[in-house]
Amino acid sequence: MIGDILKYLREKEYVSGEVLAQKLGISRVAVWKQIQKLKDIEYKIISDQNLGYCLISRPDLLIPQEVQRGLFTNYIGKKIYYFPELKSTNIIAKEKALHRAEGIDEGTIIIAEKQSAGKGRLGREWFSPAGGIWFSIILYPQLSPSYISRITLMTAVAVVKAIKVCTQSEPQIKWPNDILINEKKVCGVLSEMSAELDIINWVVVGIGINVNIDFRDYPEDIQANTISLKEISGKKVLRVKLLQSFLREFEKYYDKLKRKEFLSVLEEWKLYSHTLGKKIRVDMGERIITGEAVNINEEGALVLKKEDGKLVKIISGTILK
Ligand code: BTN
Repeated sequence: MIGDILKYLREKEYVSGEVLAQKLGISRVAVWKQIQKLKDIEYKIISDQNLGYCLISRPDLLIPQEVQRGLFTNYIGKKIYYFPELKSTNIIAKEKALHRAEGIDEGTIIIAEKQSAGKGRLGREWFSPAGGIWFSIILYPQLSPSYISRITLMTAVAVVKAIKVCTQSEPQIKWPNDILINEKKVCGVLSEMSAELDIINWVVVGIGINVNIDFRDYPEDIQANTISLKEISGKKVLRVKLLQSFLREFEKYYDKLKRKEFLSVLEEWKLYSHTLGKKIRVDMGERIITGEAVNINEEGALVLKKEDGKLVKIISGTILK
């Protein structure tokens, strides 16, 4: 209903309560109640006894009505579940992905303004206060489970493209999918999936972007390695615009992946790489390998050249400082 009334309210122009009531097929008192609800979620609306209601400004909240207004994607973000606060969007997305048959379609998104137990890679916590963009996308790709690394890499490219457009900054990707600006992390991606031997049941891609967060609000242990887009730009970044831009890019690259055109995505990934050509140490869980990052192959694996000249393919790991 709130979405409906927003369709008819005009920015910087009055619309009478009577017209709104007519268009929506409700009473004028019901219109007034809807307006109060909008005001409660930070829409600035002024009213005039004779002229009606006039929308002055919209909140920078990631509510579905705002995100979907002018989104122009075919299926990514067509359905959005929005929460002011959640433990973790990935947890809810995984629960929902199990109910595909009940209308949880590919491209459904879970968004939270804050997460109380945000999850990072390797069981780490992900600090998720208000001001960031914390969300998860549900996908059902008809691909083999080995494609998960490619989905993760392609997500990183979509994030870089969206950040570049919205902030004029030059983000880089640390393999596999940390987005860095000035050597500090601005975004992380956590992909989780359920799969059979040869086919994926579902994938949940969780993305966390530090947007309008102040340096002093970060926990001390991550302050040195973390940065927000607001700090980079010196001003607040419009989160709705950034998210929309990302969703459009994501759909474009995901479509390419489904058409098995990963190599062109990989070429772009390499353009933004922070990793290739560097001597690095990679924590693979059971051991640490040192070498030069010489390539990312067509499966999304990092190829490391060890001191003895031997090449090692790494599907999953963390690059150490
Ligand atoms: C990383 O460790 O780099 C990955 C961080 C991923 C964080 C995002 S925020 C939205 C989604 N929900 C979560 O709980 N985690 C991911």
